[in-house]
Amino acid sequence: MMIVVIDGPAGAGKSSTAQAVARRAGLDYIDSGAMYRGFTVLFNELRHDKEAFFDAIEQERLYFEFDRDVSRVFLDGREITDQLRDPEVNNQVSVVAAMPQVREQITRELRKAVGNSDCIAEGRDLGTVVFPNAELKFFLTADLEERARRRHLEMAGKDEPSDSEEFQGVLENLQQRDSIDSSRKEAPLQKAEDAIELDTTSLSFDRQVARIIEAIERVRAYQSGS
Ligand code: CDP
Repeated sequence: MMIVVIDGPAGAGKSSTAQAVARRAGLDYIDSGAMYRGFTVLFNELRHDKEAFFDAIEQERLYFEFDRDVSRVFLDGREITDQLRDPEVNNQVSVVAAMPQVREQITRELRKAVGNSDCIAEGRDLGTVVFPNAELKFFLTADLEERARRRHLEMAGKDEPSDSEEFQGVLENLQQRDSIDSSRKEAPLQKAEDAIELDTTSLSFDRQVARIIEAIERVRAYQSGS
């Protein structure tokens, strides 16, 4: 069994990289950000009433399903996966993710989700807090401008120039989340000491996927004793 983790700032390409690696190297894929986003949908539905929110956390109204290349989220049995990237979620998720009650539940769920098969999981604190003994740890970074450019492109049909108001909005959201995620008390965004840092600002997507797959193959060879 092998656990591979990728941490890093917002929009560094962790999800697409992890999905591609999962598909090509035959690993299960776990997107922890989808879980924080799922809790945020619930927080927004409860109109930011913290007391009601903490009660709802206890009632375990959220359910997560990890398919080979997509992480699905359900609230009271209804699928909410397509709401996870809504602007109102982007704007609140770092606030929700700073709450210890939320982190505790998600950390527990993540550890449960890892069965006996090899998996790749991505987030902010996976190498530092959730899976400190992971066989492989990566920390993916890129310049803020480049991350904003990629995230803007990713949003359906967005081919406007990078000086548009919308691009600025994307950039500001990434910057704001990074600042809250890095400065929070509980499990801040941080590179694990033993993580391999990949700055993808000028690394091609195929190259970064290949780097991770090569490392997985080395661990597999070692595990099988060759
Ligand atoms: O895809 P992107 O990098 O923009 O974000 P994400 O991975 O979906 O994560 C959304 C938010 O969830 C982050 O900004 C963090 O506030 C929170 N998060 C976290 O605190 N810890 C994790 N392990 C994963 C996400």
